[in-house]
Amino acid sequence: MNVYDSEKMLDIMKNLGYQTAETPEEADMVLLNTCHIREKAAEKVFSDLGRLKSLKQTREAEGKDFILAVTGCVVQAEDNEILRRAPYVDIALGPQAYHKLPEMVAKIIRKKELNAKDKNNNKKNIGVINTDFPTDSKFDFLPAPMDKKSNAFLAIQEGCDKFCAYCVVPYTRGIEYSRPVEDVLKEARLLVEKGAIEINLLGQNVNAYHGEDDSGKERSLGYLIRKIAEIDEIKRIRYTTSYPSEMDEEIIEAHRDIEKIMPYLHLPIQAGSDNVLKAMNRRYSVKQYMELVEKLRKARPDIGFASDFIVGFPGESDEDFKETLKVVNDVDYIQAYSFKYSPRPGTPAASLKNQVDEKIKIERLDILQELLNQKQLQFNQSFVGKKVPVLLDSKGSQGQLIGRTPYMQNVHVKAEDKYLDKITDVEIVKASPNALSGKI
Ligand code: 5AD
Ligand code: SF4
Repeated sequence: MNVYDSEKMLDIMKNLGYQTAETPEEADMVLLNTCHIREKAAEKVFSDLGRLKSLKQTREAEGKDFILAVTGCVVQAEDNEILRRAPYVDIALGPQAYHKLPEMVAKIIRKKELNAKDKNNNKKNIGVINTDFPTDSKFDFLPAPMDKKSNAFLAIQEGCDKFCAYCVVPYTRGIEYSRPVEDVLKEARLLVEKGAIEINLLGQNVNAYHGEDDSGKERSLGYLIRKIAEIDEIKRIRYTTSYPSEMDEEIIEAHRDIEKIMPYLHLPIQAGSDNVLKAMNRRYSVKQYMELVEKLRKARPDIGFASDFIVGFPGESDEDFKETLKVVNDVDYIQAYSFKYSPRPGTPAASLKNQVDEKIKIERLDILQELLNQKQLQFNQSFVGKKVPVLLDSKGSQGQLIGRTPYMQNVHVKAEDKYLDKITDVEIVKASPNALSGKI
């Protein structure tokens, strides 16, 4: 979602006449889009800001423009703390207010001009901040996609009402909101005009999608995907991230009927023990999750599952952790992200007394990642010698083309540029845990 938001902010700035710069040193404006999901990501913002402060000072000493903007969930969560800890920041914008960027840029330029004239007072902090959750949807104000792209993101839903005990998203992104069906279809058609053949539908809780159609009727993700699949030019459809108990019959049937939905599903279970799931306020049991996996396999036998895991949630025992390893083996995940539990200020789990020791978290994460890597490598190796359709959509540093298989595996191929932005059968010759290499 942050990549999508960053792209949208670039489009907004391009409409104002800005262009992308290769490095911060060449830029008149730097926009740092931030993530608050774990402490590590959030703290990184302040070290990055420290570096940008020096750059700002250097550029300003040379008489050049430099606007420093910080956006995203760290701004939302830390609010005025950003301008207190980093008073040299010009613009701080929460994730629901980034369509206000042009207004904020105009404000800061005006303030800078006034400051420059006011010789006695030019040290005054002039940063502007907006962390509103506006009643009008930011999506109504976003410009049409500008860059050519064969593989595009499309946000259809945002925010979350699930309130998992560890998670900041409901507080930073706000409550669940689904874009109307027609808006989504319009953006899909615009993306197609820019060359999209693969669409990735995005949302923190994408399968809770319930956008209204033109008659005011609420429609599900399954319905929306059927509509998108009717657009001929679109050859591949994905959606992420799904909440297990929101997978309804319509989306399962869509997997059964629509070839264009890729046979890869990111379906985070988070933990493999019912005790931990309950403490996390995840609203399903391991048994229910496994039944869902079976249903989806029945609908689409070639489907592969991916997940997110949190280890060391407060109260997680050795036994609980072993159950997570069991689930990994039972589902046979083909890919996963795994994290140590990170207490986030303001979330219920952060104030629980039974926090797990850091050392144990590290041990468990090592064991889990070892198992996940092994699974991923096995899965990747099963492709060696086979031909796989790959959407080659970018160029690597050594001139090779890079793309994705239906299962989201990265593939590197030595191939001519004529294959760029097309789906081509690639013969896989080598596999590692994180990538495949192949030839045409
Ligand atoms: N600590 C560790 N991981 C977290 N995630 C969300 N909140 C936390 C936290 N406090 C993980 C979950 C989620 C992914 C996006 O980030 O696994 O699915
Ligand atoms: Fe966070 Fe996902 Fe839980 Fe929502 S469902 S609170 S986004 S982990």
